[in-house]
Amino acid sequence: MKKKIIIANWKMNYNFYDTTHFLRHLLKFFNHEKEIEKNHQKIIIAPSYPFLHISNQIVQGTNIHIAAQNIHDMEKGSYTGEVSAIMLKSIGINNVILGHSERRTYFNETNKILLEKIYIALKNRLKIIFCIGETLNERNNNKQFISIQKQLEQTIFICSVKEIENFIIAYEPIWAIGTGEVPYYHEVQKMHNHIRLLFKNKYGKFVSDKIHIVYGGSITELNCKEFFKQKDVDGGLVGNSSLNINKFLSIIKAS
Ligand code: 13P
Repeated sequence: MKKKIIIANWKMNYNFYDTTHFLRHLLKFFNHEKEIEKNHQKIIIAPSYPFLHISNQIVQGTNIHIAAQNIHDMEKGSYTGEVSAIMLKSIGINNVILGHSERRTYFNETNKILLEKIYIALKNRLKIIFCIGETLNERNNNKQFISIQKQLEQTIFICSVKEIENFIIAYEPIWAIGTGEVPYYHEVQKMHNHIRLLFKNKYGKFVSDKIHIVYGGSITELNCKEFFKQKDVDGGLVGNSSLNINKFLSIIKAS
């Protein structure tokens, strides 16, 4: 069975103290529960840019990995306020979240821009947690499957089979993010299975079996078990509930 991947997306929360305190607490837990760490899934935490370096130092040599929440689509230049893949690599960051619906909505990130970001990330050997998801309107009109297919076809599916190794797919229905509303568990399974099938049709069974597809959107310590029980759900991308150490630890334990 595939190991689950649990990802915390802290978004624009947590200052220096909160970040370092949380990570040290998490490490303490793992030191106590060696068994869990040994058999356990991969854990990825995505703090804000200013704290990536210290975070990476804190988790060095453990089962916890650090991810950035974004990169610019150019490697360098006159782009005031932006951060590049090269900069992240220079401080030892190996993972980045791309395509989050908040980036798509508030920062106008189109599939075309996301494809540029994918190229830059791959060129700099960053692993990519790539988010896809449908709007409520699409869901209400039963267009969720076609919406997801389109998002994949215009981005990841332009990559080669070799490059696909560098992706984790995060299915996040936009209407479930931060709302407390979640799809029925069997609907999540159906969508994950659909995504896997799209990968199978495009890249073959080996790739589709291997790729991790995680679910995100109002995961809590109470509902996570049911999500993780679904056959094609390989973990979770957690927002709000990852900001509370006890809730996040419960989610880790449940997976
Ligand atoms: P919530 O868990 O707060 O719904 O956020 C999900 C998310 O956007 C993770 O990237």
